[in-house]
Amino acid sequence: MAVSMVEHDEYAEYRYPEGPWLRANMIASVDGAAARDGLSGGLGNEADRRLFHRLRELADVVLVGAGTVRAEGYGAARVPLAVVSRTLGFDYSSPLFEGRTILVTTGRAPGLAEARAHAEVIVAGENSVDHRSALAQLRERGLDKVLCEGGPALLGQLVAEGLLDELCLTVSPVLLGGGAMRVLDGPAVSQELALASVRQDGDHLFLRYRRR
Ligand SMILES: NC(=O)c1ccc[n+]([C@@H]2O[C@H](COP(=O)([O-])OP(=O)(O)OC[C@H]3O[C@@H](n4cnc5c(N)ncnc54)[C@H](OP(=O)(O)O)[C@@H]3O)[C@@H](O)[C@H]2O)c1
Repeated sequence: MAVSMVEHDEYAEYRYPEGPWLRANMIASVDGAAARDGLSGGLGNEADRRLFHRLRELADVVLVGAGTVRAEGYGAARVPLAVVSRTLGFDYSSPLFEGRTILVTTGRAPGLAEARAHAEVIVAGENSVDHRSALAQLRERGLDKVLCEGGPALLGQLVAEGLLDELCLTVSPVLLGGGAMRVLDGPAVSQELALASVRQDGDHLFLRYRRR
């Protein structure tokens, strides 16, 4: 049965629980590809776009890798964006910095002083971002309800470190084959999940899994 997702109270099951919570929202083809022609947008439908926006509204902060920000051309959002980057290779005049953008980086990042002049900066780790520390520093700012929008490299690390509480996964009705990236990149992991809810809109499925 097709389920319309027009009304806000229809998203009740997506409300965050009390306390710190890390949710990820990703989309994949039926055969597990995380991008079509290099972008995730080619996989979604209108209901997926509505859910994407509703999940942002429910979150305190969106956590996203710099690779996704560059590939998808992220601009400012109503919700604060926490962008994870080692290189800090950003154009500070871009729309990304017109809203509240927090750069999550390392103590050895090049251009740290310049970044601080243009954005809020969280330093977590020396060579690589220590995600546990980064999440703790977001919490110190009152940003408890975290929505990770990927990409696969960042999400793979969060799962490997046992930090992911919930995954919202849209399954897009297409087979893509080839060598497309998956929703998780990086080291092999094994995290058991419990299915928390299922929705359908046309041929798209909206799955929500929680950590066991
Ligand atoms: N299917 C989906 O739901 C979905 C969702 C999101 C994205 N995507 C797709 O995924 C692709 C991009 O994903 P991706 O995996 O290549 O990139 P990503 O995870 O978005 O970002 C990788 C970048 O994040 C920074 N980074 C990651 N881990 C770090 C750490 N521990 N310490 C410091 N910096 C760190 C680095 O940025 P610097 O290079 O700045 O150092 C790194 O190059 C795009 O094609 C996008 O369309 C798909």
